[in-house]
Amino acid sequence: MSVHKSDVKKITTHQLQNMKERGEKISMLTAYDYSMATILDAAGVDVLLVGDSASNVMAGHETTLPITLDQMIYHASSVIRGVNRAFVVVDLPFGSYQGNSSEALRSTIRIMKESGGHGVKLEGGAEIKESIIRILSAGVPVMGHLGLTPQSIYKFGTYTVRAKEDAEAQKLIEDALLLQELGCFAIVLEKIPSELAKRVAEKLQIPIIGIGAGPHVDGQVLVVHDMLGINKEFKPRFLRRYADLHSIMTDAVKNYVQDVKSKDFPNEKEAY
Ligand code: KIV
Repeated sequence: MSVHKSDVKKITTHQLQNMKERGEKISMLTAYDYSMATILDAAGVDVLLVGDSASNVMAGHETTLPITLDQMIYHASSVIRGVNRAFVVVDLPFGSYQGNSSEALRSTIRIMKESGGHGVKLEGGAEIKESIIRILSAGVPVMGHLGLTPQSIYKFGTYTVRAKEDAEAQKLIEDALLLQELGCFAIVLEKIPSELAKRVAEKLQIPIIGIGAGPHVDGQVLVVHDMLGINKEFKPRFLRRYADLHSIMTDAVKNYVQDVKSKDFPNEKEAY
């Protein structure tokens, strides 16, 4: 028996699969808190990713490595409280699944129980096969993540485009096929050549979501702070800015400071 909180038709992995089959592109954005999640969900985003990019955009770290499982659970549970329709995927943070498959399952169960998330995302291919099998066997939907995998930044050395060489491209295709065979419901491809992403999306039956992977995939994901222009400095070629919230927020705050200093705020109508 289930208890329904609203009549809104919720997005499921089954619906995402149908979207790929009928050629409807999937929209996905990151979210880390309740207020933003309510806006993104009401605006119709299909999938919200509680990304470990929270380590960068929320906590100000240089990489995604420092964020902890407890912190991810805090962000995910805040997002879940703001969502009626979207499917919410939560990143397993660095160090919470690489050790062994039991640890991966333990971390996943904590995320599912303590945050109410709908599925998890893990970075990597064949090397995390056992963990994926274990998580899927517990009935938790798994999203894969290949190409530029930021948790391995110290192995790569840079955030430049991955899989430009044949050997890495071939390994990526094999990993994508393996993730599908294991039962992943979708895969994120990050920062790889458009033609390679196209080949993967055509070869696989499950949805392929791109970030910096060109237009020929089944959906797109962006970090919400980047697409809203809250971060001014981050300007990769793949990013389209849909707003300049940095300027809008800066102007609003400057006006507030000025109004307080000049005693214009609050006025009589704004007082009891
Ligand atoms: O953590 C994140 O924001 C991500 C996206 C870049 C896909 O994994």
